[in-house]
Amino acid sequence: MIEIDWAGEAGRLRASAEGEGGWNAAVARTLVRDTDQVVADVGCGGGGMAKALAEALPGATVVAIDADPDVLEQAREHTGGLVRCALASMDDGAEPLRRAIDAPADLIWASASVHHAADQQAAVAALASLLAPGGRLALAEGGLPARNLPWDLGIGEPGLELRLDLAQDRWFKVMRESLPGSVPMPYGWTDALTRAGLVDVTTRSVLSETPAPLSSSQLERVVAGFRSRIERLTGGGGHGHVVVDEDWLEPEDLETWEQLLDPEGPYFLGRRTDLAVLAVRSVHLGHAPR
Ligand SMILES: C[S@@+](CC[C@H](N)C(=O)[O-])C[C@H]1O[C@@H](n2cnc3c(N)ncnc32)[C@H](O)[C@@H]1O
Repeated sequence: MIEIDWAGEAGRLRASAEGEGGWNAAVARTLVRDTDQVVADVGCGGGGMAKALAEALPGATVVAIDADPDVLEQAREHTGGLVRCALASMDDGAEPLRRAIDAPADLIWASASVHHAADQQAAVAALASLLAPGGRLALAEGGLPARNLPWDLGIGEPGLELRLDLAQDRWFKVMRESLPGSVPMPYGWTDALTRAGLVDVTTRSVLSETPAPLSSSQLERVVAGFRSRIERLTGGGGHGHVVVDEDWLEPEDLETWEQLLDPEGPYFLGRRTDLAVLAVRSVHLGHAPR
């Protein structure tokens, strides 16, 4: 059983909104149309994309929606008055979201949030129902696992990062099953958009690459990202708690991670010159019929 404490995650989501400003701005520019007047970011986290959308569309109404009040407060601070913030959950159907946006939407963005809804297909259908004719629903979900580490780190068994991905995948399955009223969605996001009645459904995947050596701020972000992932799998940080007696990582790998993440130790990742960023995130896009 896994329950995510979103309030405990609020600070991390804010940091990620700040760190991903460049990515959000670049993607926002590819998504918006000059004619867009009403846009929303649902499950907005720290409000990174809501802010980017507001900056890409001066004069438009941008609504940042999240189900957690502490997370929404971080979005409010991050977006500094550029967007309207509203509390609503995708688990409660379309109406609360419709009231929050208050007009048919030209563009709805939802990144890594629909996969936290108990019934993902119902959430996609709810979001699709909020679109104006010709409006777009963009779901940022999946892609390829990021690569930051060399395969052989000189400590522990090679392939540590691959095993972390696999452990996280098993964690994700239990997280989904633990959601009250969880409904499986045994097909892909493009099918989900099509089943919601959207047309011209497609996927665009965005590559982010920063070769080694990373700057000190990039290194800090990569290390913080690993720390957060390890905390998630060990029940620490704000990631909620793992009630089942589950060891997601082998004890040897956990020991290796502890050494890699120890700033005082000889193997600290934050001092390495061979870390890089290679990530591919997918954005699935559907259009409301005109
Ligand atoms: C993994 S975070 C992603 C945040 C942000 N969109 C991003 O890409 O960085 C998931 C977000 O969805 C929100 N969330 C989770 N379940 C939700 C629901 N049922 N309705 C609306 N928001 C939800 C969480 O509070 C959190 O802010």
